[in-house]
This record gives sequence, structure tokens and C-alpha cells, in this order.
Amino acid sequence: MRTIVMHPHPALRSRALPVAKIDASIETLVGEMIQTMHDEGGIGLAAPQIGVSKRVFVTVGESEDGGDERVFINPKFLLIDGLLEASEEGCLSLPEIRGSVRRQPHAVIEATGLNGEIFTMESAELMARCWQHEVDHLDGILIIDRMSPIDRLVNRKRLRALEAAQESE
Ligand code: NI
Repeated sequence: MRTIVMHPHPALRSRALPVAKIDASIETLVGEMIQTMHDEGGIGLAAPQIGVSKRVFVTVGESEDGGDERVFINPKFLLIDGLLEASEEGCLSLPEIRGSVRRQPHAVIEATGLNGEIFTMESAELMARCWQHEVDHLDGILIIDRMSPIDRLVNRKRLRALEAAQESE
């Protein structure tokens, strides 16, 4: 299991690099990410959140006991559409901070799996939101960038405390 890096860690703010080759180091990385996601109780986790600037994220699967997690390497959206919908989001790199984020509800994503094969998935439910949240991480974008001004204000003290805690480390 790896440690989650917290805002304002620089790894969360840079554009992650594409994975050139799926080798043993990527397999190890993915295994650690899945373990960390489960241990922290997240539904998704992006590599920059454990300080690795690579375009990889994982999500939980359908079954409660795990084992059917999804791995997205070099993901890209083929389609994002629908009217913007607001819904509350949190992030393991922003503990105790929650806010309403507007996203389009329908997405088709393409990525490479751990087996090296390209796949596409479609969602008009929670996963469409989750994918957008995780791809944002790969582009150095956090939910605090997408929150309404009111939600930013509501979370201002917690955000300051988090930033102060990181600086003192
Ligand atoms: Ni997040």
C-alpha cells in the first residue's frame, strides 16, 4: 500500500505522462493503486495521487469483495455529452473537503488495460462522473478548481488547514 499525497503536493498539479510500455513496473504500480484505493475507501484512484506522474487510474468494480477492478492506462474520452449536472464529490487527496461539481452525465472512454488491449466503456451513471474526476487528476485538475464559489468559500478553512499541514511537513 502506498501513501496518498495531499493537496497542495506538486504531483497533483502536473500533467501526467503517457505510459509508453506496460511492463512489470506498471503492473506493480497498478497493484499498489488498487490496494490503496480499497484501503482508503475510494471508488477511484489516479497515479498522481500516490505521487506517480503517469496516465493511469483505477476504479472499483461491481462486486463488493473486489477482484473486478478496472485499470485505465492512457485513457481518453471519445465522447462526453449531456446537460451539466451538479453532484457532490470528494477526493482522497482533499480529506474532509466536499463540494458540488458540475459535469456532463454521459461519457465514452477509451483506454488500454493491463493486458495491453484497448477497450472502450460507456456510462451515464456514477462511473461517467468518476472517470472525469480521475482524468482531471491526470491533467493536474482538482475538484476545488471546479467547485462553485460558494462551495470554495464553505471549504476555505479546511483547505487552508490542509495547505498549512502540508507546508509544515
Ligand atoms: Ni480525487
